[in-house]
Amino acid sequence: MDSILVRGNGALSGAIPIAGAKNACLTLMPATLLSDEPLTLTNAPRLSDIRTMTQLLQSLGAEVASLQDGLVLALSSHSITNFKADYDIVRKMRASILVLGPMLARYGHAVVSLPGGCAIGARPVDLHLKALEAMGADLDLRDGYVHAKAPGGRLKGAVVEFPFVSVGATENALMAATLARGTTELRNAAREPEIVDLARCLKKMGAKIEGEGTSTITIEGTDRLGGATHQVVTDRIELGTYMLVPAICGGEVECIGGTLDLVASFAEKLDAAGVSVTQTNRGLKVARKNGRVRAVDVMTEPFPGFPTDLQAQMMALLCTAEGTSVLEEKIFENRFMHAPELIRMGAKIDVHGGTATVTGVERLKGAPVMATDLRASVSLILAGLAAEGETVVSRVYHLDRGYERVEEKLRACGAHIERISA
Ligand code: EPZ
Repeated sequence: MDSILVRGNGALSGAIPIAGAKNACLTLMPATLLSDEPLTLTNAPRLSDIRTMTQLLQSLGAEVASLQDGLVLALSSHSITNFKADYDIVRKMRASILVLGPMLARYGHAVVSLPGGCAIGARPVDLHLKALEAMGADLDLRDGYVHAKAPGGRLKGAVVEFPFVSVGATENALMAATLARGTTELRNAAREPEIVDLARCLKKMGAKIEGEGTSTITIEGTDRLGGATHQVVTDRIELGTYMLVPAICGGEVECIGGTLDLVASFAEKLDAAGVSVTQTNRGLKVARKNGRVRAVDVMTEPFPGFPTDLQAQMMALLCTAEGTSVLEEKIFENRFMHAPELIRMGAKIDVHGGTATVTGVERLKGAPVMATDLRASVSLILAGLAAEGETVVSRVYHLDRGYERVEEKLRACGAHIERISA
């Protein structure tokens, strides 16, 4: 297993290109199952999760070609031969559950492995299943699989009221509703930019959707969808992650392709901490307003609130802030596993349940640390960039799921960072 070695090297400055959004691409790719015409995705990120979704779709009989060094994905589902998503692929990536809605809506049946939990939580899919049942699906859960059928071969429009916001359940229901008979209304729907991006793509394919980006999305089902070419939206989590580089190290970084609307609540918190964020015609320019950043309190919420996927990275910054910060993780039940690793680097963090209290220290000290999940891995890299001495982050396969060419992007800003292959 590879590790990444980082050596604190003072202020970092330069330009970092931001890739297409992993979490948009992982729901756009299964949308190919809704149509027998080609779907082309541009600005696709080059990540292991995308390769896993490619394998899954190919296992169903879809054609997925990766072109232009992975930046373009050409998908086609005109000859689906297998309607079972196997556990051995689904267990590698929970987003695999997103083939359930489209497959059921287009073919009237699907068998999809229940995704396991993961490091950050149990990650149930009950809201996905309840939404599809509301649309008429018969679901039979046995031997770890969801055996789904649409009576008469077609789902029907319904009012789906989500008890709490779920990104994935909204995506599954939205895709399924595009081919259902009649109108579907999704209430308390997720508002993430990735949902808006999915709706934009589905509308290019001929779907009739209104309200995406608000809590109520209305879909008028159609008999069939066509093909489309769609540019994947910029990755707001990669964007936020790299915005933290000058915040934690000093210097000035321009995140190319970044726009404020994707990270508004995050940028507000950075501003309160003493970090300036400026929209340029190329992206977002970020720099500390003066010396050490100030402590701020953070609570994660569904979009447009502070993103849970930036909580670990923000904690790394607050470990070096002046004062004490309180971070509340409201989305996942176990998303502070980066805390013990940061403590190994000299951070002062008290974790009680979903609340972490961080008392800032002048400077962290490099140490060998272990990545536990995707966002925790990159928070350790950020801490290492600012720490005194050397940090070795092990189990970086987590990192490669969500960040392309990290070393290259950070080295371009002057970072001392290298990958050590085991
Ligand atoms: C998506 O996961 C993202 N993944 C996650 O990003 C992100 O953290 C999350 O949304 C929240 O923004 C992808 O888009 C591939 P949820 P998802 O359904 O859809 C509970 C990353 O680092 N829940 O909004 O699985 C769930 O356990 C990843 O890129 C149920 O109880 O998140 C969680 O506590 C990590 N039942 C909360 O709701 C359900 O049926 C929010 O989950 C579904 C979810």
